[in-house]
Amino acid sequence: MTIKVADDAGITAAADRLRSGHVVAFPTETVYGLGADATQDDAVSKVFSIKGRPAVNPLIVHVADPSWLEHLAVSDDRIAALADTFWPGPLTLVLKRRSDCPASKQVSANLDTIAVRQPDHPVAAALLLAVDRPLAAPSANPSGHVSPTTAQHVETDLGDALDMILDGGPCRAGLESTVLDLTTEPARILRPGVVDADAIANVIGKIDEHDTTAGLISSPGQLEKHYAPSLPLRLNADTAREGEAYIAFRGALNAACDLSPHGDLAEAASNLFAALRELDDPARFNGIAVSPIPREGIGQAINDRLRRAAKGR
Ligand code: TXA
Ligand code: MG
Repeated sequence: MTIKVADDAGITAAADRLRSGHVVAFPTETVYGLGADATQDDAVSKVFSIKGRPAVNPLIVHVADPSWLEHLAVSDDRIAALADTFWPGPLTLVLKRRSDCPASKQVSANLDTIAVRQPDHPVAAALLLAVDRPLAAPSANPSGHVSPTTAQHVETDLGDALDMILDGGPCRAGLESTVLDLTTEPARILRPGVVDADAIANVIGKIDEHDTTAGLISSPGQLEKHYAPSLPLRLNADTAREGEAYIAFRGALNAACDLSPHGDLAEAASNLFAALRELDDPARFNGIAVSPIPREGIGQAINDRLRRAAKGR
């Protein structure tokens, strides 16, 4: 396995691998993706097997430009305004698939919908243009684990199964995209993420928010346990108990890590997964306790991931 620096030569090499049907991990602004040419069935199958992903859980298809949507999805009045406002960026749109959609049916898990986003990362953008095909890419972690925000996280998790990781440094946002279902009226958030519900509602009006308390299974992927470290996770903790690592927000004594000493939620999001990975060490701790995190803006997505991680074990 090689980790390649994501310079021009690295991107060209990765694009060649992808066009020949191989799987390559690459950076996006949210988390690292496990990429395959979305139009090649065999390549998409490899993503499911490397990740241990159930075939019923569909993948996000990444595009270089909103114009690529024309081939993939049935048009919808709301797409243009959303793409204008949020793309490139961490908003995934679930749309009706075109009947002649060139993407493998596996990316849709045989549903009649397809999830698409245009990532906001120079390496992802250059790679998409070089491959000149849409790339299917789930987060580059084994199914059920914490998502990777550095090339080293991907190497630790999947290095043996991959032949190339494109290293573009740490991911800026550090938390996955918001998944918005536009096949319903009103549109519905299936997974809270970096773009918050209010920002979306400002563009398209009323939406159904993801109800994190009802425990409804809305997105096929929500069936799985998710984002789980191996140590027990205790949420909304004001202090650590004996043996626990404490993850603080906005300062605390004896914290093993502070997600954002100044209380910036975007900064906390970008540090969350790396912190969970680093502290998930049974040789040093018997559990991880996490400070309360405000439920505003991206704080909703942070709380969603923490809740899943706490429940996932
Ligand atoms: O930020 C992200 O979204 C990252 C980067 C790599 O783009 N990708 C990512 O992919 O988080 P993944 O596979 O870990 O999560 C995709 C989510 C899953 O919850 C999946 O069920 C949902 O999107 N999804 C994908 N296609 C769907 C569809 N057609 N209908 C409903 N949900 C869908
Ligand atoms: Mg994932």
